[in-house]
Amino acid sequence: MARRKKIYEGKAKILYEGPEPGTLVQYFKDDATAFNAEKKATIEGKGVLNNRLSEHFMTGLNTIGVPTHFIKRLNMREQLIRSVEIIPLEVIVRNVAAGSISKRMGIEEGTPLPRPIVEFSYKDDALGDPLVPEEYIIAFGWASQQDLDDIVALALRVNDFMSGIMFGINIKLVDFKIEIGRVFDGDFQRLIVADEISPDSCRLWDMKTGEKLDKDVFRRDLGDLADAYTEVANRLGLMPKNIGSGSGPKLVN
Ligand code: TMP
Ligand code: ASP
Repeated sequence: MARRKKIYEGKAKILYEGPEPGTLVQYFKDDATAFNAEKKATIEGKGVLNNRLSEHFMTGLNTIGVPTHFIKRLNMREQLIRSVEIIPLEVIVRNVAAGSISKRMGIEEGTPLPRPIVEFSYKDDALGDPLVPEEYIIAFGWASQQDLDDIVALALRVNDFMSGIMFGINIKLVDFKIEIGRVFDGDFQRLIVADEISPDSCRLWDMKTGEKLDKDVFRRDLGDLADAYTEVANRLGLMPKNIGSGSGPKLVN
């Protein structure tokens, strides 16, 4: 088989040339990084879980009319996506204070915010993904005011959808990060949800116990990351019933 052309390799995913123009294959690695790649590990199974979870969330978003780059899952680790021009921003939505907002503003983790807060970081590891105001985004030409209005509207729809899904499985969606891509249909440009939506890019807390079921388990050394992601997948009904239960087919004597 001819080797596929690698288009881009990031910390957790690789993009390959897709089978049709305008498409790419997104491959999910098992690598995990935190703190701008100062902390690194390989977590067996993470890529498979995130591929399946991102498929689940993106398919749901497509179905309710929130456009995403997702076309279809190809196999355990790969999905076919639309090729987009990524806007170099991390779009973060917060419902509950945690992580950097708690540090920056001195708000105790777990404090509900008065309303969802949408914020933007400039995607640049060397700079530590700094928080940027809309003024910077417009002045540096990363997005227009109209784009930003559309991005905030998209982010809030993703927030409502993801909050509802998580509520249904007794998980609180504390915050999350998405990335937005531009696609061009003739003279028109559209903004769509790109990258991934997975426990790598969300904070997910069990509603009863407060247990963390997201990448903070890795960032803060709280336990086994793959177990946490498997728990999310299990609650969503995405895991084959006979995996991990130790109760495979039994022979009757
Ligand atoms: P923060 O509290 O560290 O700013 O993170 C906010 C949300 O964004 C949280 O759900 C984790 C996610 N996130 C990423 O997906 N990538 C990143 O590089 C960072 C720093 C956060
Ligand atoms: N951007 C961080 C890193 O590279 C990842 C994170 O903390 O989510 O390592």
